[in-house]
Amino acid sequence: LPEHFELSNGDRMPRIGFGTWQASDEVLEKAVDAALEAGYRHFDSARAYENEAALGCSLRRWIGDNPARRKELFVVTKLPPGGNRPDLVPEYFNASLRDLGLEYLDLYLMHTPFAFEHVPGDLHPKNPDGSMRVDLTTDLIAVWKSLLKLKESGAVRHVGVSNLNAEQLARVCAVENPACLQVEVHLLCQQPALLAEAKRLGVPVVAYSPLGSKALADMLAEKTGRSYPDLLTLEPVTRAAAALGRTPAQVLLRHALQRGIAAIPKSTNPQRIQQNISVWDFELSAAEMAELNALDRGEAGRICDFRFFPGVEKHPEFPFKK
Ligand code: A2P
Repeated sequence: LPEHFELSNGDRMPRIGFGTWQASDEVLEKAVDAALEAGYRHFDSARAYENEAALGCSLRRWIGDNPARRKELFVVTKLPPGGNRPDLVPEYFNASLRDLGLEYLDLYLMHTPFAFEHVPGDLHPKNPDGSMRVDLTTDLIAVWKSLLKLKESGAVRHVGVSNLNAEQLARVCAVENPACLQVEVHLLCQQPALLAEAKRLGVPVVAYSPLGSKALADMLAEKTGRSYPDLLTLEPVTRAAAALGRTPAQVLLRHALQRGIAAIPKSTNPQRIQQNISVWDFELSAAEMAELNALDRGEAGRICDFRFFPGVEKHPEFPFKK
């Protein structure tokens, strides 16, 4: 299996990246140091995670005064939902660039197709009743064109999208293909139709929450009463892991790779960080793949449906139907 996606200009995006959501600054800096040490070169962040500065700190320490090292990295961040307006793209991009402390970024993603109102200093603006201040006027294509303009200016090498459904992806591709589509993909939410559409359109897919994002799943279970099984303990996973002498997490990541997509697992533990990138030297058999494929629960398996932002499904571009 190729360890990279080759992008339109020949740049290479490593197919195992490092996820950074839900890590405090101090913890994240140490985790990124460990990830660099383990060989990760692809780092996924977002304005909305509010930890770009910590990521940047660690990356800049590693780069030192060696510009060749910057070129080894593939650094990704995202336009927050509160900045989903064409005129706001440069401002939010520059804030990310400044906080990361880098001269350029490799990939800038539209985080979501829906939008919150732009409130300076508040990335998650709420109404007095606790619902989100949703900006219902989003022009997805105009925002996409604004990202493309950013790429043309040379500030970022690639632009892409995240959390789009198949219909939205096709609409964006009608203007110009994104460098990638980043969406939730894991055993319970395998998204075969979306992956097929992305393949048809020629858009590489990056899986977030490839291990089932336990922290998010637990948070949502508490809020919604829905329960999410722990992917790492599912029988077909542990059976394949035992047969191959690998860990359950490695089986999940290998499953994603063998489906032709990239994955950005997050961990703050040096051993698990190392484990998650050591997935290139074994193979799941066709029978094991079939067993794992059969665990898909479709839409019911989705963890991150954004409904933890009350009122967000009213947005005309809300991507997920019940
Ligand atoms: P930790 O940071 O303590 O390792 P996802 O990438 O799907 O969001 O999942 C991240 C969650 O999975 C985190 O809770 C993380 O915990 C845990 N995790 C990451 N790598 C492994 C691994 N190799 N084995 C078990 N759990 C892992």
